[in-house]
Amino acid sequence: MLRQAQYEGLPPSLSTIGSNLTDAAVAVLTAAEPAEKVRLTQEATAAWRAEAIATLGRVQPPDRPARPARPDLLAPRDMPKRKGSGRRVALLHALAHIELNAIDLAWDLVARFADEEMPRAFFDDWVRVASEEAKHYGLLAKRMAELGAAYGDLPAHDGLWQAATETAHDLLARLAIVPLVLEARGLDVTPAMIADLARADDEASAAILQVIYDEEIGHVAIGRRWFETICAARGLDPQTSWQGLVRRHFKGMLKPPFNEAARDAAGFPSAFYAPLANR
Ligand SMILES: [Fe+2]
Ligand SMILES: [Fe+2]
Repeated sequence: MLRQAQYEGLPPSLSTIGSNLTDAAVAVLTAAEPAEKVRLTQEATAAWRAEAIATLGRVQPPDRPARPARPDLLAPRDMPKRKGSGRRVALLHALAHIELNAIDLAWDLVARFADEEMPRAFFDDWVRVASEEAKHYGLLAKRMAELGAAYGDLPAHDGLWQAATETAHDLLARLAIVPLVLEARGLDVTPAMIADLARADDEASAAILQVIYDEEIGHVAIGRRWFETICAARGLDPQTSWQGLVRRHFKGMLKPPFNEAARDAAGFPSAFYAPLANR
């Protein structure tokens, strides 16, 4: 009831996402349906950019984001291996699952660390990341529909929120792991997927992965930029701090080969990650 009263008199578009950026973030995180997450993300992005939402507020995010009833979430070791023609849909489905989690990861970062006194440019960047993740999810969902499939048709793996939980206590740790380990890993593996799809004459899917790849370079760059900014503010050396945080919060070694060209384009030099490679 309080919620209703609070939003009375606001234009209808603000009634679902609230009047602060953390309200909007939590609205996305607590929406279970992917299409609703995408819609709310687009609305929140537009409102933030137009300064219809100009304050952060202090609403804390849930421990885990809401998820639709399907797909079934399985432990990574229980995921079925697919062969033949089902492989392509399985790939798009797995990527859609990653992008859906990425929408929530961006909003979780915004809401969880809103009291860190970061400049507006920090929130501009993460709102941009959230909106691009929503676009990536939407492109993959549309492509799956063209192939007669939908998100939820296959099981998906349940390990993706672990990095968020593991780093919920510290923005620097979150930046070290999510953009600079996980999204950077995406840059390593995506070119081979694009080549496979092109070889299978699926130019439409290949083109979507190319859009994702190009924008993910920007996400790694954003992670790197703010990691550096916070290290400077805390008087820390970025390289040794990053390596220490990865050793503490990421299980296992980093997996080569690395896509050095893309990582360089994101301003992420190999002196950071090469020493942690599992050779
Ligand atoms: Fe993405
Ligand atoms: Fe991303």
